[in-house]
Amino acid sequence: MLSRGRHSVLANEPVGPYRLLRVERGRAEPGIPGQFFMLEAPGRVLPRPMSLCLAPPGELDFLFEPVGRGTRALAALEAGDELAILGPLGNGFRLDVDRPLLVGGGIGMAPLPYLSEKLGGPPAVLGFRTAHHAEAAALLPGSEVAVEPGLVTELLPAGHDVLACGPERMLQAVGALFPGAQLAWEAPMACGYGACYGCAVDLDGTYKRLCVEGPVLEAAACS
Ligand SMILES: Cc1cc2nc3c(=O)[nH]c(=O)nc-3n(C[C@H](O)[C@H](O)[C@H](O)COP(=O)(O)OP(=O)(O)OC[C@H]3O[C@@H](n4cnc5c(N)ncnc54)[C@H](O)[C@@H]3O)c2cc1C
Ligand code: FES
Repeated sequence: MLSRGRHSVLANEPVGPYRLLRVERGRAEPGIPGQFFMLEAPGRVLPRPMSLCLAPPGELDFLFEPVGRGTRALAALEAGDELAILGPLGNGFRLDVDRPLLVGGGIGMAPLPYLSEKLGGPPAVLGFRTAHHAEAAALLPGSEVAVEPGLVTELLPAGHDVLACGPERMLQAVGALFPGAQLAWEAPMACGYGACYGCAVDLDGTYKRLCVEGPVLEAAACS
């Protein structure tokens, strides 16, 4: 069920160049892997969408990359600070798959640890820009890792139900190889619940609001 409220920060830890923001769960539900939450740090910063990375008892954990104003405000949070959270939002991954293979690119690995937990630890392949970024693979033990110039798409075995999250070019390449893949897309979001059309993208000749129809879409629906 959707909830909106203020939550205490338990910790905000570095993971390579990323940060793992651990937040007290309160009455919020973690939702389905691939769903997201709007996180609003104090100050004049609009909320930013973040996938749930892990859901240990009593916590909601988010992995993020400080890249701009919103994520830098999240990076500045310390244990004991509060932030506003709205979620879970959007459509997550379908879990009724026979031979799952998780595929993540860079910070796109964020939803995969929670997804892996729900699917019983399927094989996973992750791609990163540098060895420093690849330190985040520790959140998904046993995953196979490609560091550039190696590419994640070079490591994908056939015959799997692919569930992927990462940069657009990676998702397009994965979708071309696996038309049945489930792909989690990103777009800038203002409201997160269908009201502003700020996240509308033209993926298959028709516009979709990624916060409502997505962020997870079947690859065949995006070509
Ligand atoms: C459904 C959904 C789930 C998401 N989950 C996560 C998540 O779990 N972890 C996470 O870190 N991010 C996630 N994002 C992306 C995250 O919301 C953006 O990184 C964030 O909105 C950027 O906000 P900002 O204010 O820091 O940067 P902005 O000020 O908006 O942008 C600053 C600069 O960074 C660039 N930029 C923006 N986003 C990214 C990015 N993702 N990577 C690299 N450069 C970027 C911009 O092009 C711009 O040049 C998700 C997005 C969506 C739509
Ligand atoms: S973010 Fe407002 S409609 Fe999707």
